[in-house]
Amino acid sequence: MEALREEVRRLAKSGDERTRKNILDELSALSASIESPDDSVQRFTFYNMQLAANLTAIDLKLFELLSENETPLTVDQISEKIGANPVFIGRLLRYLASYYAIQEVNKDLFTSSNISKTFAQPGFQAAVGHIFNNAGPSIQEFPAFIKENNYPDIQDNLQGHPENRDFFNLHMKSNRDGMPTFLDVFPVLEKATDLTPERALFVDIGGGIGQQAIAFKEKYPQLEGRVIVQDITLATADAIQHPGVEAMAYDFFSPQPIKGAKSYYLRNILHDWPDHKCREILKNIIDAMAPDSYILIDDMVLPNVGVHWQQAQLDMLMMVALAARERTQEQWDQLVESAGLKVNKVHTYTESSKDSIIEVITA
Ligand SMILES: C[S@@+](CC[C@H](N)C(=O)[O-])C[C@H]1O[C@@H](n2cnc3c(N)ncnc32)[C@H](O)[C@@H]1O
Repeated sequence: MEALREEVRRLAKSGDERTRKNILDELSALSASIESPDDSVQRFTFYNMQLAANLTAIDLKLFELLSENETPLTVDQISEKIGANPVFIGRLLRYLASYYAIQEVNKDLFTSSNISKTFAQPGFQAAVGHIFNNAGPSIQEFPAFIKENNYPDIQDNLQGHPENRDFFNLHMKSNRDGMPTFLDVFPVLEKATDLTPERALFVDIGGGIGQQAIAFKEKYPQLEGRVIVQDITLATADAIQHPGVEAMAYDFFSPQPIKGAKSYYLRNILHDWPDHKCREILKNIIDAMAPDSYILIDDMVLPNVGVHWQQAQLDMLMMVALAARERTQEQWDQLVESAGLKVNKVHTYTESSKDSIIEVITA
């Protein structure tokens, strides 16, 4: 077993990202294929307990504490430092270690793990807070809701709940930290023609607090043209201040005020909305486009067959929380064409999720 483990580690370290992802998928498939019925029941029925335990550990700053200390800590040391009951802490630590969120070194002695180092970082902590607090209640209600409504393809959008906006903003800002972005694959410079200081170069529609627009400005400081982040007032009020990046309150269901921009960028916007609402958003952009303008849709592109679990679970989340969807290549083509546009090229920049820039122009 040890020799096998070593070989897998060696392969994962020596290969590229695709190899590492393939190994993870192969191991999950292998693990599922040797489960007994009891193993499967135990695994599936306790997923939400893991999320709850992770959030509790985050609230207690347990992951930070273990990551900051190079040597393992005893249960008593940990409970004293965080001011919580040692019996409770001992049970929580034991549970976290049982699924490798932390490591148990010896009796009542714990240290950090690969996973706890991730959840010691605020940006990744926000993902747990966001899914548990924002999406959790909808997930809990989903089976009864969909049954009562006779299993429809949900199209009524339930957006507009500003609660827990902080988790959401931080999650959107940080959920891809360390991963490639559209700027790694999209040939901005090749398309940088007819720019002027007055003309908008990059309009990030629904850009949240502005992290993508800032990354764009930082990568291409030499390009002339305005870089603008648009979002509802609730988000622009928290926009990160950055020289050369303008924040603008704008509702994307109203006419686009920035006319003739070189590019209009939408990251994780259309996956939040059903097709008929996406067409309204696109129509407002089309009305503002110049002949050489293009739209960049930054979203997952699901393969027509063989969707990865990371894509499928996000599609379910979009359905349950927002009555929205992730789209297959075929569904993107249909949506874009139905809005009077056409896909020029798809540039994919992540492995499992197939996050992609869908470059769209007028038909
Ligand atoms: C999933 S987030 C994506 C944020 C950002 N594009 C990113 O990728 O980090 C969706 C964004 O759409 C914004 N939004 C929702 N409804 C909007 C509307 N009617 N007009 C403008 N922005 C809106 C939200 O405030 C939120 O920032």
